[in-house]
Amino acid sequence: MYILRRLLQKFRFTSRNQKWVPDQVYPDDTFIVSYPKSGNTWMRFLVGNYLTGNKCSFENCHQITPDIHMNPERCEEVDRPRFIKSHAPYRSQYPNVIYIVRDARDVAVSYYHHSRKMEDISEETTFSEFLEIFNRGEVDPYGSWSDHVQSWMDQKKDDLLLVRYEDLLDDAEQEFLQVLKFANLAVDKNAARSAVEASRFENMQRQEREQQDRVNVLSKSDKSKRFVRKGKRGNWRKIFGKREHERFLKAHGSVLRKIGYVE
Ligand code: A3P
Repeated sequence: MYILRRLLQKFRFTSRNQKWVPDQVYPDDTFIVSYPKSGNTWMRFLVGNYLTGNKCSFENCHQITPDIHMNPERCEEVDRPRFIKSHAPYRSQYPNVIYIVRDARDVAVSYYHHSRKMEDISEETTFSEFLEIFNRGEVDPYGSWSDHVQSWMDQKKDDLLLVRYEDLLDDAEQEFLQVLKFANLAVDKNAARSAVEASRFENMQRQEREQQDRVNVLSKSDKSKRFVRKGKRGNWRKIFGKREHERFLKAHGSVLRKIGYVE
Protein backbone atom coordinates (compact mmCIF):
# COMPACT_ATOMS: atom_id res chain seq x y z
CA MET A 1 0.00 0.00 0.00
CA TYR A 2 1.24 3.47 -0.94
CA ILE A 3 0.69 5.03 2.49
CA LEU A 4 2.69 2.28 4.21
CA ARG A 5 5.51 2.35 1.69
CA ARG A 6 6.00 6.12 1.97
CA LEU A 7 5.75 6.23 5.75
CA LEU A 8 7.98 3.20 6.30
CA GLN A 9 10.62 4.64 3.96
CA LYS A 10 10.59 7.87 5.95
CA PHE A 11 10.56 5.95 9.24
CA ARG A 12 13.65 3.92 8.30
CA PHE A 13 15.48 6.96 6.95
CA THR A 14 14.82 9.17 9.97
CA SER A 15 15.52 6.35 12.48
CA ARG A 16 18.96 5.87 10.95
CA ASN A 17 19.82 9.55 10.85
CA GLN A 18 18.12 10.70 13.99
CA LYS A 19 20.11 12.65 16.54
CA TRP A 20 18.57 12.82 20.00
CA VAL A 21 21.16 14.48 22.24
CA PRO A 22 23.60 17.35 21.45
CA ASP A 23 27.33 16.58 21.63
CA GLN A 24 27.58 18.95 24.60
CA VAL A 25 24.81 19.26 27.20
CA TYR A 26 24.93 22.11 29.76
CA PRO A 27 23.04 22.31 33.05
CA ASP A 28 21.26 25.50 31.92
CA ASP A 29 19.93 23.92 28.71
CA THR A 30 16.15 23.76 28.36
CA PHE A 31 14.63 21.29 25.94
CA ILE A 32 11.24 22.05 24.38
CA VAL A 33 9.94 18.52 24.04
CA SER A 34 6.69 17.14 22.66
CA TYR A 35 5.16 14.44 20.55
CA PRO A 36 4.78 15.91 17.03
CA LYS A 37 1.76 18.16 16.39
CA SER A 38 1.31 19.15 20.03
CA GLY A 39 2.14 22.85 19.72
CA ASN A 40 5.95 22.75 19.80
CA THR A 41 6.35 25.49 17.15
CA TRP A 42 4.02 27.80 19.09
CA MET A 43 6.22 27.38 22.20
CA ARG A 44 9.36 28.00 20.12
CA PHE A 45 7.83 31.22 18.80
CA LEU A 46 6.89 32.34 22.33
CA VAL A 47 10.42 31.73 23.61
CA GLY A 48 12.01 33.04 20.39
CA ASN A 49 9.94 36.23 20.42
CA TYR A 50 10.71 36.83 24.09
CA LEU A 51 14.46 36.39 23.56
CA THR A 52 14.66 38.59 20.45
CA GLY A 53 12.10 41.35 21.06
CA ASN A 54 9.53 39.75 18.75
CA LYS A 55 11.83 38.96 15.84
CA CYS A 56 11.07 35.25 15.64
CA SER A 57 9.90 34.00 12.24
CA PHE A 58 9.66 30.77 10.27
CA GLU A 59 12.89 31.82 8.58
CA ASN A 60 14.97 32.20 11.75
CA CYS A 61 13.20 29.93 14.25
CA HIS A 62 15.79 27.16 13.72
CA GLN A 63 18.54 29.66 14.48
CA ILE A 64 17.05 30.79 17.80
CA THR A 65 15.66 27.50 19.15
CA PRO A 66 17.45 24.83 17.10
CA ASP A 67 15.89 21.46 16.39
CA ILE A 68 18.08 18.61 17.63
CA HIS A 69 16.78 16.33 14.86
CA MET A 70 16.98 18.75 11.93
CA ASN A 71 19.74 21.20 12.91
CA PRO A 72 22.02 19.40 15.41
CA GLU A 73 25.01 21.50 14.31
CA ARG A 74 23.17 24.72 15.19
CA CYS A 75 22.73 23.46 18.78
CA GLU A 76 26.50 23.76 19.21
CA GLU A 77 26.50 27.40 18.00
CA VAL A 78 23.70 29.15 19.90
CA ASP A 79 24.39 31.22 23.01
CA ARG A 80 23.57 29.84 26.44
CA PRO A 81 21.12 29.40 27.99
CA ARG A 82 20.00 27.30 25.04
CA PHE A 83 16.44 26.29 24.14
CA ILE A 84 16.44 23.17 21.99
CA LYS A 85 13.45 21.59 20.28
CA SER A 86 13.10 17.83 20.49
CA HIS A 87 10.56 15.08 19.80
CA ALA A 88 12.56 12.44 21.66
CA PRO A 89 10.91 10.10 24.11
CA TYR A 90 12.54 10.17 27.56
CA ARG A 91 16.21 11.11 27.52
CA SER A 92 18.01 11.18 30.85
CA GLN A 93 20.59 13.63 29.43
CA TYR A 94 18.09 16.50 29.12
CA PRO A 95 18.57 18.62 32.26
CA ASN A 96 15.44 20.81 32.04
CA VAL A 97 12.37 19.96 30.01
CA ILE A 98 9.30 21.93 28.97
CA TYR A 99 7.03 19.06 27.97
CA ILE A 100 4.03 20.07 25.84
CA VAL A 101 1.11 17.67 25.80
CA ARG A 102 -2.08 17.85 23.72
CA ASP A 103 -5.20 15.69 23.53
CA ALA A 104 -3.99 12.76 21.39
CA ARG A 105 -7.18 12.81 19.32
CA ASP A 106 -6.43 16.35 18.14
CA VAL A 107 -2.78 15.37 17.69
CA ALA A 108 -3.84 12.53 15.38
CA VAL A 109 -6.05 14.84 13.29
CA SER A 110 -3.32 17.47 13.07
CA TYR A 111 -0.76 14.78 12.15
CA TYR A 112 -3.01 13.44 9.38
CA HIS A 113 -3.26 16.89 7.77
CA HIS A 114 0.45 17.49 8.31
CA SER A 115 1.35 14.18 6.62
CA ARG A 116 -0.82 15.16 3.64
CA LYS A 117 0.82 18.58 3.49
CA MET A 118 4.31 17.03 3.60
CA GLU A 119 3.16 14.47 1.00
CA ASP A 120 4.19 11.60 3.28
CA ILE A 121 0.78 10.10 2.53
CA SER A 122 -1.31 10.33 -0.62
CA GLU A 123 -4.43 12.46 -0.99
CA GLU A 124 -6.43 9.22 -1.15
CA THR A 125 -5.26 7.97 2.25
CA THR A 126 -8.23 7.99 4.61
CA PHE A 127 -8.08 9.21 8.18
CA SER A 128 -9.01 5.70 9.28
CA GLU A 129 -5.99 4.20 7.47
CA PHE A 130 -3.74 6.83 8.98
CA LEU A 131 -5.09 6.14 12.49
CA GLU A 132 -4.02 2.50 12.30
CA ILE A 133 -0.44 3.63 11.79
CA PHE A 134 -0.72 6.39 14.39
CA ASN A 135 -2.07 3.93 16.98
CA ARG A 136 0.87 1.62 16.36
CA GLY A 137 3.29 4.54 16.74
CA GLU A 138 4.75 4.10 13.25
CA VAL A 139 4.31 7.54 11.70
CA ASP A 140 7.75 8.69 12.82
CA PRO A 141 10.57 7.18 14.88
CA TYR A 142 9.27 8.71 18.14
CA GLY A 143 7.08 5.72 19.12
CA SER A 144 3.44 5.86 20.09
CA TRP A 145 1.80 8.91 21.65
CA SER A 146 1.05 6.98 24.86
CA ASP A 147 4.58 5.60 25.25
CA HIS A 148 6.04 9.05 24.59
CA VAL A 149 3.91 10.87 27.15
CA GLN A 150 4.25 8.05 29.67
CA SER A 151 8.04 7.95 29.29
CA TRP A 152 8.34 11.59 30.37
CA MET A 153 5.66 11.39 33.08
CA ASP A 154 7.34 8.36 34.66
CA GLN A 155 10.82 9.74 34.76
CA LYS A 156 10.91 13.46 35.29
CA LYS A 157 9.63 15.39 38.26
CA ASP A 158 11.23 18.65 39.49
CA ASP A 159 13.10 19.37 36.30
CA LEU A 160 10.05 19.01 34.01
CA LEU A 161 7.36 21.60 33.40
CA LEU A 162 4.22 20.08 31.91
CA VAL A 163 2.39 22.51 29.61
CA ARG A 164 -0.95 21.54 28.14
CA TYR A 165 -1.67 22.91 24.66
CA GLU A 166 -5.25 23.51 25.79
CA ASP A 167 -4.05 25.66 28.72
CA LEU A 168 -2.03 27.73 26.26
CA LEU A 169 -5.21 28.25 24.25
CA ASP A 170 -7.06 29.35 27.41
CA ASP A 171 -4.42 31.69 28.78
CA ALA A 172 -1.13 31.77 26.90
CA GLU A 173 0.24 34.65 28.98
CA GLN A 174 -0.23 32.88 32.30
CA GLU A 175 1.32 29.66 30.97
CA PHE A 176 4.21 31.50 29.38
CA LEU A 177 5.06 33.27 32.66
CA GLN A 178 5.40 29.79 34.24
CA VAL A 179 7.70 28.81 31.38
CA LEU A 180 9.93 31.86 31.97
CA LYS A 181 10.20 31.13 35.71
CA PHE A 182 10.95 27.47 35.06
CA ALA A 183 13.67 28.37 32.55
CA ASN A 184 15.24 30.85 35.00
CA LEU A 185 14.84 33.75 32.58
CA ALA A 186 14.33 37.25 34.02
CA VAL A 187 10.56 37.77 33.99
CA ASP A 188 9.48 40.95 32.18
CA LYS A 189 5.69 40.89 32.16
CA ASN A 190 5.33 43.46 29.36
CA ALA A 191 7.78 41.61 27.14
CA ALA A 192 5.96 38.34 27.91
CA ARG A 193 2.59 39.86 26.94
CA SER A 194 4.12 41.24 23.79
CA ALA A 195 5.69 37.85 22.86
CA VAL A 196 2.30 36.18 23.37
CA GLU A 197 0.71 38.74 21.05
CA ALA A 198 3.42 38.30 18.40
CA SER A 199 2.96 34.50 18.58
CA ARG A 200 -0.82 34.54 18.20
CA PHE A 201 -2.31 32.04 15.77
CA GLU A 202 -3.26 34.68 13.17
CA ASN A 203 0.21 36.25 13.26
CA MET A 204 1.94 32.90 12.84
CA GLN A 205 -0.42 31.91 10.04
CA ARG A 206 0.26 35.19 8.23
CA GLN A 207 4.02 34.70 8.64
CA GLU A 208 3.74 31.19 7.25
CA ARG A 209 1.92 32.49 4.17
CA GLU A 210 4.48 35.26 3.61
CA GLN A 211 7.60 33.18 4.26
CA GLN A 212 6.83 29.69 3.03
CA ASP A 213 8.68 30.10 -0.27
CA ARG A 214 11.85 30.99 1.62
CA VAL A 215 11.69 28.20 4.22
CA ASN A 216 13.11 24.94 2.93
CA VAL A 217 10.79 22.47 4.59
CA LEU A 218 7.66 24.54 3.84
CA SER A 219 8.59 25.32 0.25
CA LYS A 220 8.90 21.59 -0.50
CA SER A 221 5.45 20.81 0.94
CA ASP A 222 1.97 21.24 -0.57
CA LYS A 223 1.64 25.01 -0.13
CA SER A 224 -2.11 24.98 -0.59
CA LYS A 225 -2.28 23.37 2.90
CA ARG A 226 -1.33 25.21 6.08
CA PHE A 227 1.13 24.16 8.80
CA VAL A 228 -0.46 26.66 11.20
CA ARG A 229 -3.81 25.11 10.33
CA LYS A 230 -6.71 25.41 12.81
CA GLY A 231 -5.20 25.90 16.27
CA LYS A 232 -8.25 24.59 18.10
CA ARG A 233 -9.16 21.96 20.66
CA GLY A 234 -11.80 19.27 20.13
CA ASN A 235 -11.67 19.28 16.33
CA TRP A 236 -11.40 15.48 16.49
CA ARG A 237 -15.14 15.24 17.22
CA LYS A 238 -15.92 16.20 13.62
CA ILE A 239 -13.62 13.55 12.16
CA PHE A 240 -13.57 10.45 14.37
CA GLY A 241 -16.21 7.79 13.75
CA LYS A 242 -17.57 5.75 16.69
CA ARG A 243 -15.51 2.66 15.85
CA GLU A 244 -12.35 4.74 15.33
CA HIS A 245 -12.86 6.39 18.69
CA GLU A 246 -13.31 3.04 20.44
CA ARG A 247 -10.13 1.67 18.88
CA PHE A 248 -8.30 4.89 19.75
CA LEU A 249 -9.34 4.66 23.39
CA LYS A 250 -8.12 1.04 23.49
CA ALA A 251 -4.69 2.25 22.38
CA HIS A 252 -4.44 5.53 24.29
CA GLY A 253 -7.32 5.64 26.80
CA SER A 254 -5.28 5.01 29.92
CA VAL A 255 -2.79 7.85 29.30
CA LEU A 256 -5.57 10.18 28.08
CA ARG A 257 -7.31 9.45 31.39
CA LYS A 258 -4.13 10.10 33.44
CA ILE A 259 -3.70 13.55 31.85
CA GLY A 260 -7.41 14.28 32.28
CA TYR A 261 -8.49 14.33 28.63
CA VAL A 262 -11.11 11.62 29.20
CA GLU A 263 -12.96 10.63 32.38
P1 A3P B 1 -3.59 22.03 14.09
O1 A3P B 1 -3.08 21.21 12.94
O2 A3P B 1 -4.60 21.28 14.92
O3 A3P B 1 -4.09 23.37 13.68
P2 A3P B 1 3.64 21.39 16.17
O4 A3P B 1 4.25 22.71 16.07
O5 A3P B 1 4.03 20.63 17.42
O6 A3P B 1 3.86 20.59 14.91
O7 A3P B 1 2.07 21.59 16.33
C1 A3P B 1 1.28 22.08 15.26
C2 A3P B 1 -0.10 22.41 15.78
O8 A3P B 1 -0.03 23.60 16.60
C3 A3P B 1 -1.07 22.73 14.65
O9 A3P B 1 -2.36 22.29 15.07
C4 A3P B 1 -0.97 24.26 14.59
O10 A3P B 1 -2.03 24.90 13.95
C5 A3P B 1 -0.92 24.57 16.09
N1 A3P B 1 -0.40 25.93 16.34
C6 A3P B 1 0.72 26.52 15.85
N2 A3P B 1 0.82 27.79 16.27
C7 A3P B 1 -0.27 28.03 17.04
C8 A3P B 1 -0.74 29.17 17.77
N3 A3P B 1 -0.07 30.32 17.77
N4 A3P B 1 -1.90 29.06 18.46
C9 A3P B 1 -2.59 27.91 18.46
N5 A3P B 1 -2.20 26.78 17.80
C10 A3P B 1 -1.05 26.83 17.10
